[in-house]
Amino acid sequence: MQVSVRKALPQDLPHFYDICLRTGDSGKDASAFFYDPWLLGQYYAAPYLFFPGALCFTAEDGGIPRGYIVSVPGTAAFDEWMENVWLPPLRRRYPSPLPENRARSPYEARIASLLHLSHSSRPEPPWRAGYPAHLHIDLLPEIQGKGCGRRLMEGLSAALRENAVPGVHLGVSRLNTGAVAFYGRMGFSRIEEDESGYTMVLKL
Ligand SMILES: CC(C)(COP(=O)(O)OP(=O)(O)OC[C@H]1O[C@@H](n2cnc3c(N)ncnc32)[C@H](O)[C@@H]1OP(=O)(O)O)[C@@H](O)C(=O)NCCC(=O)NCCS
Repeated sequence: MQVSVRKALPQDLPHFYDICLRTGDSGKDASAFFYDPWLLGQYYAAPYLFFPGALCFTAEDGGIPRGYIVSVPGTAAFDEWMENVWLPPLRRRYPSPLPENRARSPYEARIASLLHLSHSSRPEPPWRAGYPAHLHIDLLPEIQGKGCGRRLMEGLSAALRENAVPGVHLGVSRLNTGAVAFYGRMGFSRIEEDESGYTMVLKL
């Protein structure tokens, strides 16, 4: 296996949807929770390939993307764009509440309702000025535990620093103990928590 890391391309989009779904249950395959295999990626992966200024990398093996890290330097501008550009067509496609025959699980219903939350009026937490970027990282099982997550994280951190971004944050489920440990190894610390998980931050 010869995994290489490169900037993500629009042509990677179908793989990003697939990776997002297959790692979407706190790091494990979420396929069984969804009738619609695209829904999770519509929120957590695809918009980053279209948002102007997003920084996205993929880890590929044999020319096929097997993992990604997606990020935006400024979360406030991204939320505004989500509200005005990305989410409106999806709100028409996925009503909220999702009809019962379209929700395979409470998880699928919850993601559909997330599309309908107002993103432009979300209160900005006081710490966010220091950590304006955010990221999502997901690797398929076949390339986990081989240093690819570290390579993606270090590549992204360098790119964010080049863009003079002071810090980055992320959200992680408390059930995803592997990812929490990984972020700790990457230097992240917890800044907030609720019943579902943690917000973690890294100074760049
Ligand atoms: C979490 C994830 C991104 C880590 O990437 P990875 O390539 O597997 O991790 P690496 O091999 O680069 O490991 C980097 C460091 O983190 C540690 N680490 C990684 N996974 C770990 C785990 N499950 N438990 C404990 N430590 C872990 C490694 O020991 C290593 O430490 P070291 O470099 O100090 O020796 C990857 O496993 C993944 O995508 N998992 C499924 C999707 C997911 O959970 N995404 C996060 C959603 S919030």
